[in-house]
Amino acid sequence: MSAQSMLEEMARKYAINAVKADKEGKAEDAINNYKKAIEILSQLIALYPDSPSIKVYEQMINEYKKRIEVLKEAVPASGSESKQIDIEDLIVKEKPKVSFKDIVGLDDVKEALKEAIIYPTKRPDLFPLGWPRGILLYGPPGCGKTMIAAAVASEIDSYFIQVDAASIMSKWLGEAEKNVAKIFTKAREISKREEKPVIIFIDELDALLGIYNSENGGEVRVRNQFLKEMDGLQDKSENYKVYVIGATNKPWRLDEPFLRRFQKRIYVRLPDFQQRLALLQYYTSKIKMENVDLNKVAEMTEGYTASDIKDIVQAAHIRVVKEMFINNLNEPRPVSMEDFIEVLKIRKPSVNQEMIKAYEAWHEKFKAL
Ligand SMILES: Nc1ncnc2c1ncn2[C@@H]1O[C@H](COP(=O)(O)OP(=O)(O)OP(=O)(O)O)[C@@H](O)[C@H]1O
Ligand SMILES: [Mg+2]
Repeated sequence: MSAQSMLEEMARKYAINAVKADKEGKAEDAINNYKKAIEILSQLIALYPDSPSIKVYEQMINEYKKRIEVLKEAVPASGSESKQIDIEDLIVKEKPKVSFKDIVGLDDVKEALKEAIIYPTKRPDLFPLGWPRGILLYGPPGCGKTMIAAAVASEIDSYFIQVDAASIMSKWLGEAEKNVAKIFTKAREISKREEKPVIIFIDELDALLGIYNSENGGEVRVRNQFLKEMDGLQDKSENYKVYVIGATNKPWRLDEPFLRRFQKRIYVRLPDFQQRLALLQYYTSKIKMENVDLNKVAEMTEGYTASDIKDIVQAAHIRVVKEMFINNLNEPRPVSMEDFIEVLKIRKPSVNQEMIKAYEAWHEKFKAL
């Protein structure tokens, strides 16, 4: 057995133990095993940087890290305290700070969201067959899904309930399905009382389907409760306007019953040239620059996400600030084209081409505008 496969085997064993402990509700045990698995996977990455499995290692590390975060949050709450949530806490009463004008590009997504919610709200009589209550935003990480869903609430006069699916599944443990029911009940109540649309925004929607696909675990019950609640929204005899916006960067995890209830499905894709240029302009607007050809930078950043572009601008700016400190100057010099070139040399797109192909393929198959 090669050293590499031996390490892989070790990482696998820790991961299996972690998942087992996780299933049994032994959070600390699970965390420790996930950590050990991460350690070995990191070693593998360091030792075999050219291995074709690198991407897989990285993905696994990310998954485990996320799970650790989730478990860590759950640990203190798992005492005798009640896990019932106070729905009032989830309702965002103040409008979210972000609005459509902070979101660069994505005009089609903005339009689609507005149409889907505003028209039926204003003239329900024009929709004798009902209208979509479930809207799914899908696409690569860092392209604005969470941002745009939050902004909808400030564009449309509506109530906004924000729920993070991953935390429903972990924090609420046994209470998750009850809490899902509570959220929907509350949403219907508010909508009837206030005669305004209520948007339930579920981020990382795929987490509702559970991580292990276990047949008899809590995940299945939460999922079924959710599907039932979604069906309830279609009841035409009732006059409430409750919408569910779900966001995911793993649309392929959603199964057919789920998809059926999200009748409108919108792809939030990687920025194209024009959007990258607009992002660059937006994020450099407060930065001093000299001889920077943003058109060129936009060309050079094909394949990068919106969030990457923000990071690139930030990194270019940090270069000049660092230089200022090192050279004991009072002011940083303006950012130059050279700074962008240097940053791009050491910063690759956070989503690879294979992934993008997977999104495109899913989009072709399941889009519903
Ligand atoms: N269209 C955009 N305009 C301006 N900034 C953006 C845009 N898209 C992303 N960003 C920046 O990138 C950050 C991450 O975006 P966001 O959280 O909305 O991505 P996401 O699509 O929800 O990703 P994930 O799938 O990882 O949850 C934002 O906080 C914002 O700073
Ligand atoms: Mg997001």
